[in-house]
Amino acid sequence: MQTVKLSNGMEMPMVGIGVYQVPDAAQCEQSVLDAFEAGYRLVDTAEGYMNEEAVGSALKKSGLNRDEVFITSKIWITNFGYEKTKRAYDAALKRLDMEYMDLVLLHQSLSDYYGAWRALEELYKAGRIRAIGVSNFYPERLTDLCMNAEIKPMVNQIECHPFLQRETDLECAKHFGVQLEAWAPFAEAGRGIFTNEILNCISKKYGKTVAQVILRWNVQRGVVVIPKSVHKERIEENINIFDFTLTDEDMTAIAALDTGHTEIIDHYDWKIAEFLNTVKGRE
Ligand SMILES: NC(=O)c1ccc[n+]([C@@H]2O[C@H](COP(=O)([O-])OP(=O)(O)OC[C@H]3O[C@@H](n4cnc5c(N)ncnc54)[C@H](OP(=O)(O)O)[C@@H]3O)[C@@H](O)[C@H]2O)c1
Repeated sequence: MQTVKLSNGMEMPMVGIGVYQVPDAAQCEQSVLDAFEAGYRLVDTAEGYMNEEAVGSALKKSGLNRDEVFITSKIWITNFGYEKTKRAYDAALKRLDMEYMDLVLLHQSLSDYYGAWRALEELYKAGRIRAIGVSNFYPERLTDLCMNAEIKPMVNQIECHPFLQRETDLECAKHFGVQLEAWAPFAEAGRGIFTNEILNCISKKYGKTVAQVILRWNVQRGVVVIPKSVHKERIEENINIFDFTLTDEDMTAIAALDTGHTEIIDHYDWKIAEFLNTVKGRE
């Protein structure tokens, strides 16, 4: 598995499995087990996905050692704030039945994320989390946090796929030494992504699938990807991207697909901010 070095020197796998929208415990556990068997070592869950327990039990059943895997979870905004975030981290560890997490992210740039960040900094300095980061922080929020925090986030996880390529986010992240991680690398299977003509044309050239071309493209840009699937054959397909290289010409052709806007969630929309603030986390 190809890895990338985070700003604190820690190695992060370039491909992981995401488990958003897999609330069924047995199905989540099976996906993670299939992923481990296929060679994945990174799992991306969150307090809000209601499946941290299943991720923890999959690790136990896999027979892998804790230090062989990279476990990410996220703190939801109702648990932001210095004291609340520290408590929420302990509660998440209990659900995972683990002693530590490899990466903890603040799920949104909303509510008291500065207080929450100070809690993560403290947990990190105490050696209780291996790396800390944020999610859905757009360039101006990321810059602000990087300019004011004692420890800069090591990772920023944002929506990123061929229709929303995030070049400015990439530039900003590189400037501050933050690793970008792409959520919804397949645009959640929307916008006709798997039947797109340009992507199909490139995939045929290499005898690979469109899914593999999409993931390869992001990995070649230096972006970590965490595709979600509950199908074993797709899970295997999605990690099998290290035996071909897209040319500059392919990369340019894919660059032309960028629309610069989301069709999943617009964090600049005040109604979305209002809605997210009504979503409850876990106790
Ligand atoms: N930080 C955040 O705010 C945030 C938000 C959203 C997601 N995430 C993270 O990012 C991960 C990935 O994003 P996502 O789950 O939203 O969407 P995604 O990975 O872009 O797309 C998942 C969809 O693609 C399908 N799929 C997977 N592999 C395929 C393949 N090889 N061929 C055809 N279809 C395929 C899946 O179907 P099947 O499952 O039926 O195979 C599912 O419908 C999440 O699971 C989560 O960990 C984070």
